[in-house]
Amino acid sequence: MNTLSAAAVAALSAADPAEKCRLTRDIAARWKNGDVESVGTCPPPDRPARPQRPQLLPPKEMPKRAYKGDRGRIGLLHALAHIELNAIDLAWDIVARFTGEDMPKGFYDDWIQVAVDEALHFEMLEDLLASLGAAYGDLPAHDGLWQAAEKTADDLAARLVVVPMTLEARGLDTTPATMDRLARNGDTLTPPALEVIYKDEITHVAAGVRWFKHLAQKRGWDGKTEYQRLMAERFPGGLKAPFNHAARAQADFDQDWYEELAKRD
Ligand SMILES: [Fe+2]
Ligand SMILES: [Fe+2]
Repeated sequence: MNTLSAAAVAALSAADPAEKCRLTRDIAARWKNGDVESVGTCPPPDRPARPQRPQLLPPKEMPKRAYKGDRGRIGLLHALAHIELNAIDLAWDIVARFTGEDMPKGFYDDWIQVAVDEALHFEMLEDLLASLGAAYGDLPAHDGLWQAAEKTADDLAARLVVVPMTLEARGLDTTPATMDRLARNGDTLTPPALEVIYKDEITHVAAGVRWFKHLAQKRGWDGKTEYQRLMAERFPGGLKAPFNHAARAQADFDQDWYEELAKRD
């Protein structure tokens, strides 16, 4: 069954992060070489396979993180590694779940590249953890990340609005301040890794915006109206300001789409 969707499901079904990353690069190479016959149809699992460690906890039960010193850094790197591992699966889930949409090849090219980037991000963070004598799995991790996928499993437009255009875009808003804080605390290793991640994430948000706009056009929608309608339906809490308008603009994300959704407190 040499199809892209079956390959994506194999990556989703790999519990071992190293194997998931290896499969990710392998699929990308085969797709580029033309060794994958077609996109095909192969429904993804409800939840991706996960390693035995870390222990997954409901968000409310997560222990408070230390902010200072090596313990603080390990906590941050571990949380980020967990986000990146989920991001690999989110990319493969988009590839496998919405094959009924008849999206062009460029759509698959983009999400395969996202999966490859996320695998690299995960590995960079794992290396940083190792440099501190720690590893992914050592701490408990947040079990809420897959909820965004479950809540948007029925509609590609909703998935793009909630995952790349909201959750990944939020990363663009917060990462520069995290880099500054770490640098001020004398961390010379993490900020350069976060800089690589940050630049890649702009392209992930851009892919979300690009394919949402493509779908809007295909469905005869006004993009802004439909984006805001889907946000009200699927992400009703509103968005946290301040926004990184410059990075969002690089992703072609129109300020007048999202700015009105900022929470007022
Ligand atoms: Fe990432
Ligand atoms: Fe990403």
